Formats: sequence, C-alpha cells, structure tokens
Amino acid sequence: MGNAILEMHHIKKSFGATQALKDVSFSVYPGEVHMLLGENGAGKSTLMKILAGSLQADSGQIIWEGTEVKIKNPSMAHQLGIGMVYQELALVEQMNVMENILMGNVPTYGNSPMIDWKKASEKSREILNRVGLGNLSAKTRLSDLTLGVRQLIEIAKALSRNAKLLILDEPTSALTNAEVETLFGIIEHLKTEGIGFVFITHKMEEVFRMGNSVTVLRDGDKIGETRKLHEVNEDDLIHDMVGRVITEFYPKEHNTKNGEVLLEVKGLSDEKNFRDVSFKVQKGEVLGVAGLVGSGTTEIMEAIFGLRKFTSGSIVFNGKEYSQSQPNVSLREGMGMLTKSRKSSLLLHMPIYRNVTLSNIRDFVVGKIFRLKKKELDVAEEYRKKLNLHARTITLNAGDLSGGNQQKVVIAKLLCANCKLFIMDDPTRGIDVGAKVEVYNILNELTRNGCGVILISSEMPELIGMSDRIIVAREGRIVGELMEEECTQERIMKKIAGGVNHE
Ligand SMILES: Nc1ncnc2c1ncn2[C@@H]1O[C@H](COP(=O)(O)OP(=O)(O)OP(=O)(O)O)[C@@H](O)[C@H]1O
Ligand SMILES: [Mg+2]
Repeated sequence: MGNAILEMHHIKKSFGATQALKDVSFSVYPGEVHMLLGENGAGKSTLMKILAGSLQADSGQIIWEGTEVKIKNPSMAHQLGIGMVYQELALVEQMNVMENILMGNVPTYGNSPMIDWKKASEKSREILNRVGLGNLSAKTRLSDLTLGVRQLIEIAKALSRNAKLLILDEPTSALTNAEVETLFGIIEHLKTEGIGFVFITHKMEEVFRMGNSVTVLRDGDKIGETRKLHEVNEDDLIHDMVGRVITEFYPKEHNTKNGEVLLEVKGLSDEKNFRDVSFKVQKGEVLGVAGLVGSGTTEIMEAIFGLRKFTSGSIVFNGKEYSQSQPNVSLREGMGMLTKSRKSSLLLHMPIYRNVTLSNIRDFVVGKIFRLKKKELDVAEEYRKKLNLHARTITLNAGDLSGGNQQKVVIAKLLCANCKLFIMDDPTRGIDVGAKVEVYNILNELTRNGCGVILISSEMPELIGMSDRIIVAREGRIVGELMEEECTQERIMKKIAGGVNHE
C-alpha cells in the first residue's frame, strides 16, 4: 500500500485528571478513508486536534511523510498539508464565502501586504468548483447559508491550503441527504487524487459505505489493531466500541394509552414555512415526525413551542388554548423542546450540573437567591448515571465535554424541566450507538409515566423503531399518517417524496 502519509506513535494526553488518550498509535495512507470510531468521550476529537495543531500531546511522536514533526499550532498543520473540519464548525459567520476560504491565506502582490483581489477571487472560484459549489457567489455571507453548504466550504478551505490529509469530525451530522451525497462524491474524487481522510462518525452505514480502514478507541485506548473494513462486520465494531453486545437497538415499550389528548394542533399556518397543519399527541405516546430538511418539521415545532410566530390556527395544550406563546411560558406550562442547535442551548463556561438545572431553576432556589447546590448536584448526578455521561465529575464545565456528551447534557436539561410534553428535534445527534439505547430507554420511561413525546429525526430506523405513530411532512404540510404497524422505510419515503421521483 506504499508509505503512510502520517504516523502517530504512543500519543498521550490528559486534561487535569482526565486521561483522554492513554497511549494511542495511528497511521493514515494516501488515498484511503480511515474511519475513527468510539463512544462519546473516547478521545477521537482530541487525537485529531493534536494532529491539527489545536492541542498539544503530553508525549508521543508524529511522523509526517517519513519525517518527525512537532505540530505546535494550526498554521503549522496547514503548512504540512493537514486540514481539519471540526465537529463544531469554525467558520466566521460575519465574513463572506471568499474571506472564509482564504482566511489566513490571501494572495497578495508579490511580497507586499496588498491583497490581490482578482487572484483571490479566481482562487476561491476554483476551490468552490472542486467541492461542487461552482454556482455559489463568493460574496455570500456565511450566516445566509445552510449548515451543509458551510461544511462544504470548510472542506474547500482546507483544500485551498493544498491539504494532503483531511480530517472530518462527524461531517454529516447537520447535512441533508442531498448534501451528504455531494460530500461523499467529493471525498471519492479527492481520494483518487491521493488525498487521505480521517472520518469520524457514529453512523454505521457511513462506516461501511465510505471507509477503507477502521480504528476503534475506547476510553483513550486503541482497541485491537487498525483493520480493513472488508475484514470486519458491524457487530464486531460495535462490540469494540462499547465493550458489550447490543442485542436490541430500539427497545420500544408498548403501554396502553387511555386516549387522552395532550396536544391538539388545528390548521396551524405561518404562510411561509407551513400551512394548515393539524395533528394530535396523546398522553403516553411517541409521535414521530418524518420529513426532509426544509419540509417545515422544525418550524412547525418551533411555532408550537413559541420560538416563532404563526398567523392562523390553534393549539390546545393540556386542555388550555395556547395562542402565541413564548418558550419560558411553554416550559412553565409543561412543554419542553430540545432544539437542533446544541451550542445555543448550553452555557459552555458553566458546570454541567448548572446546565442541567437551568431549565427548572425555580426548583433549585429558595427565596430567589439561595441556590440549593446539593440538590442540583444530586439531580445532575442522577442524570449522569442514567445517560452514561462520560465526565469525571459533574462540576466540569459543559464546554470541556466531548460533543456527544454535551448533547447528553442538553437532554438531561430538558428532562429536568419535568414536562408533560417533550418535543425533541434530532435528540440523538452525535450520540454513540450504546448511549442511544439509553436515550430510548428514557423515552420509554417518559411515556410509561404518561408524558407525550414528539420525535423529529433524520434517522429513519430510529423514527420507525421508537414511534407509536408517524406523521409525514412535505413542503410545510402534513401529507400522511402511519400507525406503527404500517411504518416501513419505503412507505415513509414514498410519502416524503410525494410520489414524485425526487431522490
Ligand atoms: N478542553 C478540555 N478540558 C477538559 N477535558 C476535555 C477537554 N476536551 C476534551 N476533554 C475530555 O477528553 C475526553 C475525550 O474527549 P473527545 O472530545 O476527544 O471525545 P470524542 O471521542 O470526540 O467524543 P464524541 O463522540 O462525543 O465527540 C472526554 O472525557 C472529554 O471530556
Ligand atoms: Mg468528538
């Protein structure tokens, strides 16, 4: 297979008392996609940040194209040809596409500091073409683009620095199906140019579709050797990741419902994103909502929760008419929502336990001032165990957690609000296969206790596996409803596409 572009030997890294990497060795070859797998908190992002120069290893050796190197900062990594697309995007929203792509790498006239705008524009155009964004104006502001397009621009940015190795840390978690296909096409093409990839994901179908080789980390250790993907099966990989066999991925419990309606939405419209939306949620029920990104599912739920306006229609929640609400009012009435954006729902500089109790502060203060710290700690500790939160203590700041563990804190925060109805938009995004099962067990517990859940998910098996009933949205309307026994991927996809041959 020729020589490795990159070798990492015996890498160790601790954060305070947390040993994130114990002794990890890892190599990447030109033209391969190397899958890096492991549970939340296993050390995947840490290992890659060391390679990209944004973290320093405590000890160990990095060999780049046969020579030992010290990668002291991101710009050294860029110079070597290492590009990284971070789990949480690092783009600057206020800048335009071209400025982002060429950031820190703008062509100038000779040695002068004068920017050569013509060259800059040509260069960014050429790079945009390479990632299939030839039609995008380089003047567009980042804040006006979808996450998927921004992800592709991050890749474009890495390519503009002639990357030979590209690290993609959960690149598809915010992409639409079509954007995923574009991304995969680009990866396939760049492989033929000899570019090597490290690809981190929690989605097993991506592992087998895109990977050539695979390395598994668990608790900062490498489990077994790097293997070719055609030599392993899914069960082996999952076993290596979580250290046990998972027999049931969707442990859906069926409880008898008494038919009491918890939420009734009638004719809801905002005349822009959704029209004439009607549905009910019963107590003890998980209502799945299927639809492509852009079908209005997120907007509908945001309007119900009070995050955006609607112009006509009615919402009756728990027997009460609900006109233009606000999130804090909804919460008080017993309706909670987990939104897509993880970062905006956490205070990253605050400890985990504070974040967990944030949604229900009134239960944790006396006389408006005195916080019941012991109670906060107890409650947060309970969630830590329940959700298998990978954190040494719950006094750590949320920002020091791995991506998936931050998502678990977001879930704990929602649960702590003691709601009757939980609206969850992609709750298991970035959560590892083992911990997903924990989340599903929590859904069971909620419905057993008579709560209602609205589940939006981009993962069809999850939706089918955990819903009692599924409604399908297309172009802002509800176009179908399927009872659990009728739910198959094919039927849902047909309704989503509306009989038209979309994708
Ligand atoms: N800046 C930091 N300060 C303290 N601890 C940290 C910091 N960054 C990471 N850690 C810890 O290091 C461990 C490894 O985290 P890392 O982000 O590498 O996990 P990961 O494998 O990428 O997980 P995920 O799948 O959730 O993204 C975790 O226990 C995490 O809490
Ligand atoms: Mg990570």
